[in-house]
Amino acid sequence: MTKAKLRTGIVGAGFSASFHFEAVRRVFCADVEVVGVHARTTASTHAFAEKHAIEAFDDLDTLLDGIDVLHVCIPPALHESVAIKALARGVFPIVEKPLTGYFGEGAEDYDGRTASMTEARDGALDSIKRILDAEAKSKARILYAENWVYAPTIQKEREILEKTSGQILWMHGEEAHSGSHAPSYGHWRLAGGGSMIGKGCHPLTAALYLKKVEGRTRFGKPIRPATVTARAHALTQLPNFVDTGHIRADYNDIEDFAMIHVTFEDGTIATVFASDIVLGGVHNWLEVCAGNHRAICNLNPSNQMQTYNPVESQFDDIYVVEKIGTKQGWAMTAPDEDFSHGFPQEIEAFYRTAAYGDDVESDSELAADCIATIYSGYVSAANGGTEEPVTLL
Ligand SMILES: NC(=O)c1ccc[n+]([C@@H]2O[C@H](COP(=O)([O-])OP(=O)(O)OC[C@H]3O[C@@H](n4cnc5c(N)ncnc54)[C@H](O)[C@@H]3O)[C@@H](O)[C@H]2O)c1
Repeated sequence: MTKAKLRTGIVGAGFSASFHFEAVRRVFCADVEVVGVHARTTASTHAFAEKHAIEAFDDLDTLLDGIDVLHVCIPPALHESVAIKALARGVFPIVEKPLTGYFGEGAEDYDGRTASMTEARDGALDSIKRILDAEAKSKARILYAENWVYAPTIQKEREILEKTSGQILWMHGEEAHSGSHAPSYGHWRLAGGGSMIGKGCHPLTAALYLKKVEGRTRFGKPIRPATVTARAHALTQLPNFVDTGHIRADYNDIEDFAMIHVTFEDGTIATVFASDIVLGGVHNWLEVCAGNHRAICNLNPSNQMQTYNPVESQFDDIYVVEKIGTKQGWAMTAPDEDFSHGFPQEIEAFYRTAAYGDDVESDSELAADCIATIYSGYVSAANGGTEEPVTLL
């Protein structure tokens, strides 16, 4: 069979745009031509274009005219408008996490610490509805870039659930590190919240995905979230916080610690922690406690490789593991971190959908359930941890 030919573009030229570009280069199922990039400033657009030998586009519309797939690698507040624009033209948007959220209607002085979380939840639900409506009218589909869904450990657990018809009783998991690098992170009006959405979306979506897999295996339909209880804290903003410089501490109006406890439609549960206050490199894992098996899915760190380096400077130009503070001593060195995080597998799967119509594992329903759960979580946290219903759209 000859491979399909697809033309693709990237909006954004920062951290995620770079790893998306690398993942596109590893796509095998189709011949993908990266046509060009568009970012906020002319300088960043041209710098990214030059580095990767692609065309720089000063406006998004011109880029959209010539492509089949658009990588949406821009701050969350812009995901909705750009995804809808792509869908309206029949272009498949690969949308980075979180799908969308509530950003205070763009008000410069929006303050997530004092704002109404009920209003935020309603606003986020409206945004999801607009995206789902646009998808329903489009010949393209939303490809929700939740890499955890495609991580090898989570996909192995999918296989176990499908082949053993296991019932998951409890999952617990975490995404944490010492603080996101993106300048937009820290401002609710740009990021839609703090660690609960920025980091919690990863293990939460993996947990929602595995209950979806369990449901479709056992009953032919997903088991979806029903209620949520959450707590949120801004630990680096406490007046007595001791700043030793190892943890990012300059957030504007967001939480840096969150606990999300979900009850599913069948009464089973998942508990997820998300934070920006954990040293020692990224800490990404999900443990599944099923009636017939137990699985610990490590994304990072994993002990596939361990290195001991007696002199820091020896490893100056060696990548060890995400967000590690030092390369000296023992380290859980990641031999292929992108692969352990599921990035190339995710992008390969998305191009299979765009080229051949394959089903999407990380689809708009999963993305919508994640956002609806998180914003009900914000309502709960604002009320000191009340149990809140999750609206399914
Ligand atoms: N899956 C993951 O593990 C992961 C990791 C990091 C970031 N992300 C997600 O990727 C997205 C982007 O984050 P990032 O870390 O790449 O941020 P970044 O700050 O590194 O880059 C953001 C880019 O967006 C561009 N941009 C801003 N406004 C724009 C506009 N109006 N039009 C066009 N371009 C515009 C900027 O020029 C910049 O190049 C976020 O949704 C974030 O949550 C996901």
